[in-house]
Amino acid sequence: MAKKELLDVLNKQIAMEEHASRSYLVLALWADEAGFEGAASFFYKQSEEEREHMHKFIRFILETGGSPTVSNFPDTLPKAKSFKNLFEIGLKHEKAVTKSIHKIYELALKEKDYAAMNFLNWFVDEQVEEEDQFNTILGKIKLIEEHGGSIYMLDRELAMRAAK
Ligand code: FEO
Repeated sequence: MAKKELLDVLNKQIAMEEHASRSYLVLALWADEAGFEGAASFFYKQSEEEREHMHKFIRFILETGGSPTVSNFPDTLPKAKSFKNLFEIGLKHEKAVTKSIHKIYELALKEKDYAAMNFLNWFVDEQVEEEDQFNTILGKIKLIEEHGGSIYMLDRELAMRAAK
């Protein structure tokens, strides 16, 4: 079983992942009501993924003989202002999660808890992908803002031609 300090931060991460799931659900609903079907589907899926992350932490704590707890994360739910803002909120959130995962990893390393380190490796990789995903979408939005949607579509066509 993980030592108390590590167990405490693992349990706090359960709350953070659960909060992330609800935050993405709020963003999905905003997008859905605004008529952005694609963004809504994207955030509904993100919301489900965050619940899966929460369950991964719960399972790990149980499997290593600890007691998972459910608590409130001390943060308010997001309020999106625009399509672009949905993804700015997402990126900010993922950066906070990355920081939190790295902190837990440092503690696991200090306590020589190899099982926890091994478990956390998946999340370290996942956070690289999550941040990259939001950065990529925001990069595309910036391209459209700077060059217009038609140039963006043309560039996509060129990429598809090159891939043939
Ligand atoms: Fe579970 Fe997107 O971090």
